[in-house]
Amino acid sequence: MKILGIETSCDDTGIAIYDDFKGIIANKTYKQNKIHNLYGGIVPELASRAHMKNILPLIKEVFRIAKISYYEIDCIAYTAGPGLIGSLLIGATLSKSLGFSWGIPIQEVNHMEGHLLTPMLENKNISFPFTALLISGKHTQIIKAIDLGNYEILGSSLDDAVGESLDKIAKLLGLGYPGGKKISELAKKNNYKNMNFPKPMVKNNKNLNFSFSGLKTFVINKIKELNINDYKIKANIAYSFEKAIIDTLIIKTQRALKITKHKNLIISGGVSSNNKLRYKFNKVFNKKKINTFYPSYDLCTDNGAMIAYAGMLNFKKNKNFKFDLKINVKPKWLISDIKY
Ligand code: KG4
Ligand code: ZN
Repeated sequence: MKILGIETSCDDTGIAIYDDFKGIIANKTYKQNKIHNLYGGIVPELASRAHMKNILPLIKEVFRIAKISYYEIDCIAYTAGPGLIGSLLIGATLSKSLGFSWGIPIQEVNHMEGHLLTPMLENKNISFPFTALLISGKHTQIIKAIDLGNYEILGSSLDDAVGESLDKIAKLLGLGYPGGKKISELAKKNNYKNMNFPKPMVKNNKNLNFSFSGLKTFVINKIKELNINDYKIKANIAYSFEKAIIDTLIIKTQRALKITKHKNLIISGGVSSNNKLRYKFNKVFNKKKINTFYPSYDLCTDNGAMIAYAGMLNFKKNKNFKFDLKINVKPKWLISDIKY
């Protein structure tokens, strides 16, 4: 079976074709960084317009790379949520139109389930149940993944997501968007002076939720107080901020694993491409005999392949499939509310 995956939940347009025999046969992403870089964050209206401009050329490109024709596609999977409503509508409308004209089924996909399943796409040794830490630009969640479509959210961010906080501080440090990678690069230039930034919400040892806005305000005050024109100080801030975030994520994940007692841990989403984070997670969890799995770097951030793969698994499971031309998007769709 071949499935076309269409991802337009936020700023990146991701298109891929997944073959359940061969794996990913084409995967292309148009990144809108240059557009949003000017504003230090995503401008929703500009994101929708860029999706509209790029989506069809990208689909053509993916078919060219895969060397197949549209009549070889068995199903279309698109991101129905969560995400920005304008961006979601572009992918949903196009998916419904193509599915209708090609006479093939259309499967909606939850974007967070796409991130969660990505390591399984590449590593067939991973199976349910497992615990997942999803860290992206818009979400920070710890999930108890019981089975396909059966997910419990153990903890989530009460305010800013990890990626969002990294992006905001990067903007204030004049590093540009997206900020996670840039903060990380700057942190490496530090002479290992840790400013001991606070680790938010770690005191109550039952709490699995996150709150990064207090830490963000703390860092903003430091930026105002210190001379960030001094490159060394700027690098110290980046290092200490990245450290506070990673340490907090580790503490909460340790707590979650005590509850789930799972032996497999998936860390996925854009922020999981952070090398310092991978190194520290591996060090802490592998010592405890917990296996850690990450997507390969190019599949950490938003992409069409994860949507095609999640769409294929759900389509195969969904016995009551009904063709429905209604344009269905769910900007606040929780992974725990998936029902097919
Ligand atoms: O998963 P993703 O592409 O988008 C959402 O679904 O939200 O994640 C984007 C986020 C951005 O906030 C970006 O700063 C962050 O991932 N990111 C990183 C790194 N690369 C991307 N954060 C830390 N270290 C990185 N190397
Ligand atoms: Zn994402």
